[in-house]
Amino acid sequence: MSALEYLSLGDPAFRTDRFSAYQRLRDHNPVARVEPDGTRAVLTRYADVERIFKDPQMRVQPKAGEFPAYLGTGPGATFHKLSLPDLDAPKHTRLRKLASPAFAPRALGHMRSWVEQIITDNIEALAAADGEVDFVEHFGMRVPAEIACRLLHAPATDAETVLRRMPALNRVLTHTPLTPDELAEADEVAQFYFDYIGEIIDSKRGKLGPEDPVGALMLAEEEGGRLSRDELIVTLVGFFIASYHTTMTAMTNAVHALLSHPDQMRLLAADPDLAPAAWEEVLRWQSPVHFITRYAGYEFELHGETIAEGTQLLLGIASANRDERRFPDPDTFDIRRADKRHLAFTAGGHYCLGAPLSRLEGDILLRLLPQRLPAMALIDTNTPRTDDLVFPVMTALMVAPKGV
Ligand code: HEM
Repeated sequence: MSALEYLSLGDPAFRTDRFSAYQRLRDHNPVARVEPDGTRAVLTRYADVERIFKDPQMRVQPKAGEFPAYLGTGPGATFHKLSLPDLDAPKHTRLRKLASPAFAPRALGHMRSWVEQIITDNIEALAAADGEVDFVEHFGMRVPAEIACRLLHAPATDAETVLRRMPALNRVLTHTPLTPDELAEADEVAQFYFDYIGEIIDSKRGKLGPEDPVGALMLAEEEGGRLSRDELIVTLVGFFIASYHTTMTAMTNAVHALLSHPDQMRLLAADPDLAPAAWEEVLRWQSPVHFITRYAGYEFELHGETIAEGTQLLLGIASANRDERRFPDPDTFDIRRADKRHLAFTAGGHYCLGAPLSRLEGDILLRLLPQRLPAMALIDTNTPRTDDLVFPVMTALMVAPKGV
């Protein structure tokens, strides 16, 4: 592809063989302009992607300080205006600082036992199953939902109710205009979350300490109103939104990667202390989120191209994590890789707030699974994924927990 040719992100060839497409872009078109008018650019090399993430002048908002007018003034708009991933400094800096104690080491230490319980129970349920099961349905979708519910002190039985409404709310968190019907639905759903989480907060008032993620945030709310009630609720719902699909995909990718690389599974079974390194390698090798958007905060040059202020930059995380300029032998899945630092949680000011919880989950899962289900086998090597550009989620992973 020549640098003058616009890239079609909808091209089936691009989506079906993504890692080859990413490699072509890294090698021949590292600032790929996107059709129809070339005003968006895709960056795919590790050094470029990392540089943009770490530059505090790059924005998540298309126009500095401006929120989309098409959202009106209802609960959906409130959600957008208070949501961490959609805010730039200084609003983001303030809210992020207040939200950070939720996954600080003190809170994390208290989470380990219940996270371990949820993962153990679900591994035991797999162990009890005869024949073949779909890992996505029987583990991948369940465990993150149970963990997110427990995190928010919501009953696990409410997971379906809470999750079902999420896509309608997600629409207000993107920068794509909504139809009046979509906006009405998003407002209704946003109000549902304000009421639902509001009730949980009220029922827990005075009962949670700072070692509990909700308790830590409630403390910030109670102490002189540093965090408003709306901010508290939007941040907690944000935990649910940010954790569910990412964790489901990472856990499914982990099992798929290990079952399709039996040598790596054997290494992990022989040395469970490799679990944290194996989790990092899964996130590097198959990053759950393929692209994250930023807007150029000023005009700059990159690989001979001028990037104008305000240009939408699609930052290719999954590609960056396979960049041969950064990782030796990048397509090899190697849990003993010496340099594991990747961009799956991004870098800079918006770096995934829940990364410590995700690492705790990965450690527990990858320690237990090879011990409890040593013969687990992949039934079908053809693993379908949605063709979503940003988030290609595996829709089924057929396994035999007790082996074939
Ligand atoms: C393997 C699992 C996960 C992956 C791959 C992942 C990935 C990401 C990515 C790519 C971002 C965007 C960062 C940016 O825009 O620079 C993000 C942000 C975020 N994540 Fe995660 N995430 C995971 C799990 C979690 C969990 C378990 C939680 C919390 C329960 C969480 C909470 C958040 C929050 C609150 C943000 C917004 C941070 C901000 O904008 O300041 N994530 N995550």
